Amino acid sequence: MDVVLIAAVTQDGFIARHEHETVTWSKDLHIFQEQTAGFPVIMGSNTFKCIPIPLTGRNVIIAHRNDKPKDILKDLSAEKCFIAGGGKTNARFSDLLTHAHLTPHPLIFGGGIPLFSEPIKEKNLVLKKKISVVPDLGIYQYQYKIK
Ligand SMILES: NC(=O)c1ccc[n+]([C@@H]2O[C@H](COP(=O)([O-])OP(=O)(O)OC[C@H]3O[C@@H](n4cnc5c(N)ncnc54)[C@H](OP(=O)(O)O)[C@@H]3O)[C@@H](O)[C@H]2O)c1
Repeated sequence: MDVVLIAAVTQDGFIARHEHETVTWSKDLHIFQEQTAGFPVIMGSNTFKCIPIPLTGRNVIIAHRNDKPKDILKDLSAEKCFIAGGGKTNARFSDLLTHAHLTPHPLIFGGGIPLFSEPIKEKNLVLKKKISVVPDLGIYQYQYKIK
């Protein structure tokens, strides 16, 4: 199964200003909705609490601190699933990621919740596709395979 990290990030690698922030600055929500439709979406409980409207049409799995990432994935029977944050959850699933769909935004927060909240193993990414999000603002989603 493909395990796809999906995130909107600032140019300095943050996904939120603080752990309770509802992300209203990202411009790629429509892409998130399209790509995750019909697939399991795994997110941490902080992220779940920050979502303003329920995500319908997909199996949303809330990851808690005592859950084992491998056990969560083992129970899924899908061609792919998405890891949708936040930084703690991304870090916990980092060893299991096969792909990353990242949308850098023209913002610098200077601090906050990083894409991965803990140190993780180094990874090499191979660009597979670049999708227009808001070309006038220079916003694209980069789809990588993780080697
Ligand atoms: N820009 C983006 O694309 C994007 C995407 C997703 C999320 N976000 C943002 O990311 C932020 C949340 O990220 P996050 O990293 O704080 O949380 P998170 O990964 O969403 O969820 C926190 C997870 O860690 C556990 N946890 C909470 N406090 C902990 C602690 N002190 N030590 C160990 N585990 C702990 C929770 O489990 P329990 O339930 O057991 O407490 C939960 O599993 C929100 O602002 C959200 O909007 C941004």
